[in-house]
Amino acid sequence: MGSTAREHWSSRRGFLLAAVGSAVGLGNMWRFSYLTAENGGAAFVVVYVAITLLVGLPILLAELVVGRGAQRSPIRALVHYGGSVWKPLGILFVAAGFLILSYYSVIAGWTLRYAGSALLGGFEGDAGARFGEVASGWDAFGFHLLFMAGTVTIVGRGIRGGIERTALLLMPVLFVLVCGLAVYASTLEGSGAGYTYYLKMDFSQILSPRVVTQAAGQAFFSLSLGMGAMLTFASYLGRDHHLPNASLIIAFSDLAIAFIAGLVVFPMIYALGLAAAVSESTVGALFITLPRAFAEMGAVGPCGGFLFFAALVLGALPSAISLLEVVVAGSIDGLGWNRPKAAVVMGMAIAVLGAPAAWSTDVLGVMDDVANNLLLLTGGLLLAVFVGWFMKDPVSEARIGAEGVAWFFLWRVLLRFVAPAVLLYVLWEAIPGTFASIRALWGGD
Ligand code: TRP
Repeated sequence: MGSTAREHWSSRRGFLLAAVGSAVGLGNMWRFSYLTAENGGAAFVVVYVAITLLVGLPILLAELVVGRGAQRSPIRALVHYGGSVWKPLGILFVAAGFLILSYYSVIAGWTLRYAGSALLGGFEGDAGARFGEVASGWDAFGFHLLFMAGTVTIVGRGIRGGIERTALLLMPVLFVLVCGLAVYASTLEGSGAGYTYYLKMDFSQILSPRVVTQAAGQAFFSLSLGMGAMLTFASYLGRDHHLPNASLIIAFSDLAIAFIAGLVVFPMIYALGLAAAVSESTVGALFITLPRAFAEMGAVGPCGGFLFFAALVLGALPSAISLLEVVVAGSIDGLGWNRPKAAVVMGMAIAVLGAPAAWSTDVLGVMDDVANNLLLLTGGLLLAVFVGWFMKDPVSEARIGAEGVAWFFLWRVLLRFVAPAVLLYVLWEAIPGTFASIRALWGGD
């Protein structure tokens, strides 16, 4: 497809909401709160924010610059600026999109199911047993397929008619819901301990290698970085868009929603005396603890539960869309397929790849580990090196539409030195653990 026929966003707001929609998702609510719980509360949050600003933000801007400049999907954009030696990085991006969406959609399926259960009568009964039922087997697979079908339908409709329209519709609702839930959580008696846990620093934790690696993986996941999702969205932008501002808006919205989601989850858990469950937190924690909390709230429980899980679904959908869009854009540009065909065929392949995650939360956990701690961090590292050291004059491309910006020099320094150094350290720390968890999965079965 020639670049003249390339689709474009109909408005700046449309692009921004779609990009924020990509960033804000299960990562902000499910992943952020369980990692925060697992890694000692506020100390983790501080490291996470620091890495988001010093490493995530510069790489986000780099993705936007490459995407808008090239007006191509990731593989072609990298080849356009760097020649065919950079093609494998593009392939890594698409592969990561495949893998992440396959298990992301499984979790989104759980949330869909929980939202439905809330509507149909609440969360009575044993929450752990319920989670076991919802999160594995045909139940999980069925809701995963349902969620994938929705994602495929929207991506198949294109940038304006599908992706942009969905973001314009859902993101404001999501924002209101999350804020409303945070206010509600603050009215619960005993919520104070939750704020203390969430916001009080434990400095002994702050720079352990584990906290730093988990925080880096989370920063990349939450910003949708390291696999060309933001690059792909930026490739549908006109040349005059202010990219530095866009990167700031996206990063701060993402941080804000994650922070507010913590203000929902922690007070609620502590108010209901479920703190013990937090410390043994795993991928399933939110799905076991919070329904228990809602069940104890009496009459308002089902309604609160529905709103909470509905917020998760609304957050997950635009994120899943952006993951599928990377794969679809690659198939349109690279294989010459039309959009509906690309969406359906790739969506089906991803749905099948998600089956192991639907049958085992252990497999899901390892997929998440591999995707974040290996693929996204490697992708981010290579992209920082590419734009920082190899791409010709990225600053003049970034400056188009943003003439007055004074921090391009800082951007360059962060991209060239700070981001690669931090990412090399993190990868060095994370790789042995990730391989150990893969081996444990193999051995354990
Ligand atoms: N950022 C999303 C979330 O927080 C998930 C996501 C969407 C993503 N697109 C991505 C993660 C690309 C990594 C790469 O839920």
